Amino acid sequence: MKKIALTGIKPTGIPHIGNYLGAIQPALKLSETCEARFFIADYHALNATKDPVAIRSMTLEIAAAWLACGLDPDKVLFYRQSDVPETFELLTILLAFTPKGLMNRAHAYKAMLQTNSEAGKDPDDGVNMGLFTYPILMAADILLFDTDLVPVGNDQFQHVEMAVDIAQSFNHIYSSQALRLPQPLAQPESKTVVGLDGRKMSKSYGNIIPLFAPEKQLRKTVMKIVTNSQEIEEPKDPDTCSVFSLYKCFASSEEIAALRARYTAGGMGWGEAKQELFVAMNRELAPHRQRYEELVQNPDYIHQVLREGAAKVRPLAAAKIMSLRKIIGIS
Ligand code: TRP
Repeated sequence: MKKIALTGIKPTGIPHIGNYLGAIQPALKLSETCEARFFIADYHALNATKDPVAIRSMTLEIAAAWLACGLDPDKVLFYRQSDVPETFELLTILLAFTPKGLMNRAHAYKAMLQTNSEAGKDPDDGVNMGLFTYPILMAADILLFDTDLVPVGNDQFQHVEMAVDIAQSFNHIYSSQALRLPQPLAQPESKTVVGLDGRKMSKSYGNIIPLFAPEKQLRKTVMKIVTNSQEIEEPKDPDTCSVFSLYKCFASSEEIAALRARYTAGGMGWGEAKQELFVAMNRELAPHRQRYEELVQNPDYIHQVLREGAAKVRPLAAAKIMSLRKIIGIS
């Protein structure tokens, strides 16, 4: 029996290279060996954004991005969270099994309290109940589908552990195994993708390389990667260089060995190294970019894919809710 892998994708607009290497690629790889369920977490986005135009367009863009990178909707159940109302019934059930103290300990919530206190504001300023209970909705997303594996970024690890805690509490009270305990699959730290300035690539640092940038813009962005001021003749250290670190994600092992040799031999300038990186990146990304551009021109197709995905998962969700209702005495 194949394991069930599930992950939620927050609609945050067009992804960058860090999202591609850190989330999209590993999840798609996992879908080759698991029964995969990937969904757009649009109700999670509502906690942060109250702009309906933005939510709509970001949902379409992120769905297009995953499809463009190779998600095959015939193999992966791909749907919108909001199209599966059983999620929200399970949320209501799980609320009754989640100690408030557990939510108080969530890193994301604690970070908000910290920021507020540093700014001299009320600790809960700007925190709505959707944000506070976010891990419980996430637990509902996961537990609804008997998930075994949840590929997530390190920042989401704790949320998956909370889903386990909540499931265990339910199972314990009813002496049942009704909720399957999921396991978070975090990206190894070594996989952290560096941005233009050498720090982790992140929108909030303003150091990203957009995934679908047109060729010219991609080249220009790659040329902006910060390097040291070594002269052309000097031998260079590939292992402390952002250009090389990114190159390793897009080149074959022979290509990596060849560029490594050019670094250590000296005689290669940073411009040349960046050009090599650009060529390798563009080779891989050009087909994705083209597919993405076609897809965003065709929102009806994307909506149809998501609707069909929801039609496939809803019977599974409904059966799960029925079995839980029996256990709790609401049926
Ligand atoms: N919280 C995740 C993020 O911010 C998105 C998400 C929502 C998710 N529900 C999930 C991830 C369920 C894994 C499983 O990226």
